[in-house]
Amino acid sequence: MRVLGIETSCDETAVALVADGRLLGHQLATQVDMHALFGGVVPEIASREHLRVLPRLYRELLRETGLAMEDIDAVAVARGPGLLGSLLVGVSFAKGLCLASGARLVGVNHLWAHLLAPGLEGELRFPALGLLVSGGHTHTYLVRSPADFELLGRTLDDAAGEAFDKTAKIMNFPYPGGRYIDDLAREAEPDTTLFPRPYIDNPTLDFSFSGLKTAVANHVAAHPDLVFETMADADAVAALPADRRAALARVCASFNWSVADTLRIKVERALKEVGKVESLIVAGGVAANTGVREAMRGVAEAHGLELTLPSLSLCTDNGAMVAYAGWELARAGYGHGLDLEAIPRGRI
Ligand code: KG4
Ligand code: ZN
Repeated sequence: MRVLGIETSCDETAVALVADGRLLGHQLATQVDMHALFGGVVPEIASREHLRVLPRLYRELLRETGLAMEDIDAVAVARGPGLLGSLLVGVSFAKGLCLASGARLVGVNHLWAHLLAPGLEGELRFPALGLLVSGGHTHTYLVRSPADFELLGRTLDDAAGEAFDKTAKIMNFPYPGGRYIDDLAREAEPDTTLFPRPYIDNPTLDFSFSGLKTAVANHVAAHPDLVFETMADADAVAALPADRRAALARVCASFNWSVADTLRIKVERALKEVGKVESLIVAGGVAANTGVREAMRGVAEAHGLELTLPSLSLCTDNGAMVAYAGWELARAGYGHGLDLEAIPRGRI
């Protein structure tokens, strides 16, 4: 079965083709530079850009794979969560293709797609504990199958990626700044007393990261010489004198540790609650983070679980994950009518 995947939920426009669980081709256009000018994603710009580039990416994908729409059995589209205007572009495009070709329409939960993405690189083992750490979400799930996700915990305020991006903004790194913090963090040992591990004393599986950002803001206010005065870029980071670089790296490493260790504690708690699982799947943009990957490696080892981490290119938003999730759902018999709705937030 050949499945076309369409992703337009935020600031990446992407399409991909999956056949029998393997990736045949993918195309992606990022809007990151556009939104960076505003320090965050501007919803109207995002939808207009999706509308502009999606048809071109679709054509390029067909050219890349040598296939025509008639060769495609199902069209999977991320129906949410995400920005409503952006989602509507992808959903409408998918409906148009299905209407014209008779292919099956499959609405996909963007967050589930993140967690299923590593299925493109190896076999997923269920039941699994899933940790989704992205720019908009921090969710833990019990994943019984590709179509059966039970939400266990979620963030009550900032998502982990948002905590990275807002902290990076305080330090004057460009948006999205998670990568900058991670790169510098690798150069220093963390001071584990510098920042709190937020909400770990709360006995639930939920997260709350907003306090961590405030702690960094307070630290930076007390040490203004630590951070860049104006917006930095990779060249500015490279030009930092060694002593300032070491001091900033230590702050980044400490922040990285606080996030990673908070995730570790809550994941261990979730594992205790759900009982026996076969694997731990970690996905989303923040799964690219060195500290998070290391912490999750430790959890998996301690609990004798297989750790499933997507390769870096599959961590951030992409079309391959939507195509793959759609393929899993389609082969399990799922599909939607042409009245499929986009669901920007809440239960999908
Ligand atoms: O999953 P994703 O591409 O988009 C959403 O669906 O939200 O995640 C983007 C998030 C951003 O907050 C970005 O700063 C963060 O992932 N991110 C990282 C790293 N790479 C991307 N955060 C920490 N360390 C990284 N290496
Ligand atoms: Zn995402």
